[in-house]
This record gives sequence, structure tokens and C-alpha cells, in this order.
Amino acid sequence: QKNIISISDFSKDDIEYILRLSDKMEPIARSRKTSNVLSGKLLGMLFYEPSTRTRLSFEASMKRLGGSTIGFAEANVSSATKGENLTDTVKIVGEYSDAIVIRHNMEGAARFASGIVDVPVINAGDGAGQHPTQTILDLYTMKKIFGKIDDLHVALIGDLKYGRTVHSLAYALAMFDVKMSFVSPPELKMPEGIVHDLNKAGVSVQQTDDVHSVLEDSDIFYVTRIQKERFPDPEEFSRIKGAYMIDKKLVEDTDLIVMHPLPRIDEISYDLDDTKHAKYFEQAFYGVPVRMALLKSIIESYE
Ligand code: CP
Repeated sequence: QKNIISISDFSKDDIEYILRLSDKMEPIARSRKTSNVLSGKLLGMLFYEPSTRTRLSFEASMKRLGGSTIGFAEANVSSATKGENLTDTVKIVGEYSDAIVIRHNMEGAARFASGIVDVPVINAGDGAGQHPTQTILDLYTMKKIFGKIDDLHVALIGDLKYGRTVHSLAYALAMFDVKMSFVSPPELKMPEGIVHDLNKAGVSVQQTDDVHSVLEDSDIFYVTRIQKERFPDPEEFSRIKGAYMIDKKLVEDTDLIVMHPLPRIDEISYDLDDTKHAKYFEQAFYGVPVRMALLKSIIESYE
């Protein structure tokens, strides 16, 4: 497809193609070499919300492929501070670039941008909506570690209401033969609409607020940060924060792995970092080969 807005823009075959292409990109990323696949191409990066991994791995990916990037890392250094609207900014940068990556606090912003410009648009996170490129790298991580995605039991834990990474991941996992459990405080359950879509696709999901109930049976704990910035009521955040802490003691008698899109605040203890369970740093690295594969595929097919 031309754009990457929602994970549902991909079929299972599309995802498997990108995972295979990511495998080919990984040696370039690991050896810190550069190819000339996208030589002369320019990626426009519009980050209206903070980012470390997504922004820098897109930038690294574009440069590893021989291309370059332009853009801003915070809305307050763009003309948005002078009152310029999203439409005008996207239109201008679309003229400067061969593709646009956008992160915005408004759900639907990337879809909106894709209606304004001719060049491909990639959603790097739209409010509490989706984060589809994170999802592909999450699937790649699972495939690298387990050699498969089918037959895994994945527990999504934490802020399932506002966490965009778990929204797109739930839809993606539903394309595979996996078991999913949703673990969250009652106030932060997965949105009804997503649960409804999954049920309609024939996927039944266990929902609980008790992380111990999925401890024995899970292959993966996919933990998310409680998304402070999305709470309309700061007092509600204060009440819920710290709801879960995954630490070494909790998982040491299991073989499960712990993934997290990062950043973490207090939901994964630092004592887990040096254990066999911790896979979140490896996961963050895979952002480069996976985004290389996505950029190559999207930009080349647009030419
Ligand atoms: N995983 C992720 O989206 O991280 P950043 O917010 O640092 O980009």
C-alpha cells in the first residue's frame, strides 16, 4: 500500500513480507553500514509529540539506506507556534520530501495528512490511536525470539485504554493464531470497539486486572506505560499510576519474555534488565531494520 496509517492497512501476507525484508536489513543495521537503496531520497519528519526511539530509528533507517531526513522534533520549533495549521505544514513538507512520517497528539492526524499530500504518509503514533510501525517491530521481535508468532500466548499489560502500541498490536496479533490476554486496571481496559472487532474476527480474549492469573500460561508479557499525557483528569492518573510493577521476583520461575515499547517509568523494575526475560532493548534495536524495510518498500513502490 502507499501509506502506513493503521495496522489494518496490512494483510497478514504484507506483514510477513515486511518481516522477511527486515531480516535482510538487519545485517546492515547491525554492522552500522550504509547502502544506497534510497540514495537521493528525502524523508520529512513531523514530530508534534516527543519521541526518542521512533524518531531516531526512522532517521537512522533512512540514513542507513543512503537517504536523508528533514523535519522537526517538537511542535514548538515549527511554525505551529505561530499558529500555522496542520494542513499547511503537511502540504509544504510534502512538496519538499519523498515521504512523510508524522507523530501527532490528535487521533486520525496521519490519516488526515495522507489526504493532503501525494507522497506516502507514515503514522508514527496518533494520540491514543495506533502506532503501526511499532507493531511490525514488535512482531519482528517475537519472530526473532520464538521463531514464530503463531501459538504464542501474549499478555498485554498496563494502559490498554490510551496505549496506541497495544491497540495496533492487538489487531495484528488477531491475524495470527495466538492467544491474547488483556491485563489492566478496570479504568484502563482495552476500548470496547477493539474488543468487539477482535470478537467479530473470531478472537476471544481473556480480560483481567490480575497479572498473576496470566503468569504461568504466558509466553510474552507486553507491558505498557500508563499514558499520563492522555488523562483528562490528572487526579485519575495519580490514583492509577504504579498499578503494575513487573520485577525479577515476579517472573523468575517462568520462561516468559518481557517486552515494552518504552519509555518505561515504573512498570518494569531495573532488576529485570540483566535477566533472560528482558527483551525490550533488543526490541528497540529492531526499530532500525524494520523501519528500513518499511521505508524501502513504501518509497520504492511510490516511485
Ligand atoms: N516506542 C516508542 O514509540 O518510543 P518513543 O516514544 O521514544 O518514540
